[in-house]
Amino acid sequence: AALAAIAVVVAFLVGSIPFGVLVSRAFFGRDLRREGSGNIGAANALRTLGKRGAVAVLLLDALKGFAPTLAAGALAGPIAASCAALAAVIGHCWSPFLGFRGGKGVATHFGALFALWWPAGIAFAIVWLAAVVATGFASVGSMLGALAMGPVLWFGLGPAGLIYGLVSAAFIVVRHRENLDRLRHGTENRLSLLKPNRT
Ligand code: G3P
Repeated sequence: AALAAIAVVVAFLVGSIPFGVLVSRAFFGRDLRREGSGNIGAANALRTLGKRGAVAVLLLDALKGFAPTLAAGALAGPIAASCAALAAVIGHCWSPFLGFRGGKGVATHFGALFALWWPAGIAFAIVWLAAVVATGFASVGSMLGALAMGPVLWFGLGPAGLIYGLVSAAFIVVRHRENLDRLRHGTENRLSLLKPNRT
């Protein structure tokens, strides 16, 4: 239990590393929080920094979900892995390095899925891509993908998987409150995967 607790704390701290802010500042001399949707995630990186920035933010944010989840699973078992995954997502959303502000947890959750049960990661990517191509909104793909993971993880991991899937989806949807408002008002920021708008 001590090992599991340490793994969860480490996962939270790793999840808190704001790669979107670090990458945009270090390599582009800009700050994602001041551009596009103002979000620190890969979707806004694609929108405002272009493809290279988006890939870097996506991979780094996914890694901080993947690595601590995999480590927690190896050290302390599957329940600890789910708790670490959730801790990393929460760290990304409410980062102590950003005054407890942060992102929406999607890429971090995506990375964690590969460590929990890799087919879920593939399933998430398929739902996300299909929804984003169909609607043009990253937020719709992220919320639908997250909501689909409960049943998918139940299938792969049993009840513990279902619980992680439902709780992570709840956090991710809550973090999309502003997106939901914009979707309702027809003012949501678009995301074109093929021709991201550079600003
Ligand atoms: O992963 C975040 C995405 O779902 C929404 O990002 O920048 O379109 O608000 P954004």
